[in-house]
Amino acid sequence: MSKIPGPHRRYPGEFFLKLTRDPLTFFEQLAQRAPVNAIKMGPLQIVVLSQPELIQQVLVSDASNYVKGRGLEVSRRLLGQGLLTSENPLHKQQRQILQPIFKPRNLESFRPAFEQQTHRLLRRWPERGVISASTEMTRLTLEIIAQTLFGQEVDVDEVRGAMDEAVKTFRLVALPFYEWAERLLPALRHRPQRVRQRLDRVLEGILPGSLLQGTEMASEQLRDEAMTLFLAGHETTAHALTFALYLLSRHPEAQRRCAQDEAYLQAALLETLRLYPTAWIIGRRSLTSCQLGEYQIPPNTTVLMSPFAMHRHPDYFLQPERFRPERWLETPRSRLPKGVYFPFGGGPRVCIGEHFAWLEMLIGMRLILQNYWLEPCDVSRPKLRPAITLAPGQELLIPVRAA
Ligand code: HEM
Repeated sequence: MSKIPGPHRRYPGEFFLKLTRDPLTFFEQLAQRAPVNAIKMGPLQIVVLSQPELIQQVLVSDASNYVKGRGLEVSRRLLGQGLLTSENPLHKQQRQILQPIFKPRNLESFRPAFEQQTHRLLRRWPERGVISASTEMTRLTLEIIAQTLFGQEVDVDEVRGAMDEAVKTFRLVALPFYEWAERLLPALRHRPQRVRQRLDRVLEGILPGSLLQGTEMASEQLRDEAMTLFLAGHETTAHALTFALYLLSRHPEAQRRCAQDEAYLQAALLETLRLYPTAWIIGRRSLTSCQLGEYQIPPNTTVLMSPFAMHRHPDYFLQPERFRPERWLETPRSRLPKGVYFPFGGGPRVCIGEHFAWLEMLIGMRLILQNYWLEPCDVSRPKLRPAITLAPGQELLIPVRAA
């Protein structure tokens, strides 16, 4: 481990401070500094990878040498042993059970729900007025996940209330110092449990109509999977759509083209997820000692890979800060080295909802842009909030008018 080079620490706690204050910039700087960086934070050994082949190795070819990072291990208390947080052999078994729901052929049956819910959203929009992108897109993705996976009308406000609290708690329990804070403030200890109970009550009401009900799962497992899909299935997509609306509002030419040209719309969404990959950081922990390039990584090392930093790396993208959907038409994704662009992760733990999210985003954006014109949002550089997911750090208000 000592052989792996890393940035020089100028004062104790420097890396911790950078990671908590502005992790996006920190990861971007590390990526441009060296392909492999070791940083030590207290007892934690962290290796940050910014070389596509090594990222591919950890996520795909050597995946069995790694488990999920510590953050997600802690959030098991909230999500139980759902797909996102479980490990083998349970993970493999559950992935096999759930995979058929997310196969492209089955997803076609969700198309009407994607369309209906987007139309319903648009009926609420004014002829001319201002929308809060994040509020609207969260409502849309929440209603979509409820209708598609739970097949029935849910009380969105009730679900949203429980979800909001869950997401806040999720953020809290994933903080690096949470376990320590919990020891000092025993009141915190009950929070994940209380939130879980509230979510359980909401889920109990809607599980009977669920698609998952037809799968072979014990009821405890079913609840964990339902909760996981609910959480993982709406937040990331909501933020991605929010950023897409924002970017298109500020790029009228691109917006016009998106409304008419599906291939261009897809490029614009690829470009949105390049600039704002809502899963901005992916972590693993090594189980055994592993070779990564010229370095030997000891067991129990935290390995971090940042889609955000890779997607803005000047070695792989020209003018990386610019929103230019055309780049995806000029250089298709398949021509990029693997491990450069990975908004949905990779390997056995690749996002199970990737195709679901694509269809949902393509249909949603097409209908929005065919029915509404977005005037420029007046925020020129949105603040970003990198928590569990990458969210806008400020309200993005977009003036809209019916087309
Ligand atoms: C733009 C939208 C989305 C993005 C950017 C995204 C991103 C990701 C990423 C990067 C991972 C892998 C994390 C890791 O390797 O540690 C992941 C896993 C996962 N995602 Fe998504 N996701 C999105 C939408 C969805 C949707 C719509 C669903 C469900 C309907 C979903 C459900 C899941 C689940 C269950 C996992 C865990 C898979 C496993 O470990 O087997 N995601 N997602």
